[in-house]
Amino acid sequence: MTDQILTETRDGITTITMNRADKKNALTLAMYDGIVDALKTAEADPTVRVVVITGAGSAFTSGNDLIDFMQNPPDLAGDSPVSRFLAAITTFPKVLIAAVNGIAVGVGMTMLLHCDLVYAADTAKLSMPFTALGLVPEAASSLIVPAMIGHRKAAELFLFGDQIEAARAAELGFVNEVVPADALMAHVEAKAKRLTALAPSALRLTKQLMKSSSREVAERMKEEGAIFGAQLRSPEVAEAIGAFLAKRKPDFSQFAA
Ligand code: COA
Repeated sequence: MTDQILTETRDGITTITMNRADKKNALTLAMYDGIVDALKTAEADPTVRVVVITGAGSAFTSGNDLIDFMQNPPDLAGDSPVSRFLAAITTFPKVLIAAVNGIAVGVGMTMLLHCDLVYAADTAKLSMPFTALGLVPEAASSLIVPAMIGHRKAAELFLFGDQIEAARAAELGFVNEVVPADALMAHVEAKAKRLTALAPSALRLTKQLMKSSSREVAERMKEEGAIFGAQLRSPEVAEAIGAFLAKRKPDFSQFAA
């Protein structure tokens, strides 16, 4: 397993930490596989009742590693580390808590839709800048977000892709609670601890009942994956990622609408 994913299990709680702080925890293919392995281990371990996912340093995650995107475009509609990660996170049967300690970009924000509880530092900022990258939403976010907040608010988030503050994310329902940054992990630990004292099969069955739309989610992820994959190979994405790497603004004026 990559050392860019750390796992620690204590008192029935597994904590998975995305650990690539110098790159704002941008997710590489190996890191997606590392999270999948950690989730599988936690699922199989009867002593683990709750899983917490968080980021090392100042970021939760800046999303997919953009260099990986260019060099190894993932097959989101088929088998790839990203699709395995999305499948694992959307079907994980035990309670999954996100501790959003800082910036959450792209899949860093959309993965929250599949966590049962989300606690965010007051300094956290969330964004889904897919269009600015020439991309489209993933993780069934194109289905879940409009259903959650309505088309117009979803359009604002997806079409502009602007960052929102943790407090706004809580208002919209992406986040349960916003906590002072230095109190976040203690707060999450206390919540996780309460859950470890509850009846485990009741927790699992309650989650299962709430996730009754999972087939629809899987179908939408496949649909998004096919479009996302095609866009990844498009000149728009080449321009967007080239601009990011060159630390300049992308110029989409050359492309037909
Ligand atoms: N993929 C690859 N590298 C990334 C990255 C990503 N998604 N996000 C950040 N990095 C790298 C930066 O290139 C930089 O590397 P360098 O030190 O070698 O120059 C380093 O991480 C630190 O990032 P930096 O941009 O200096 O930090 P910041 O605090 O000014 O900004 C972000 C943080 C997350 C707002 C900014 O890095 C960003 O917009 N990243 C891209 C996010 C993105 O588009 N993700 C994909 C969504 S689908």
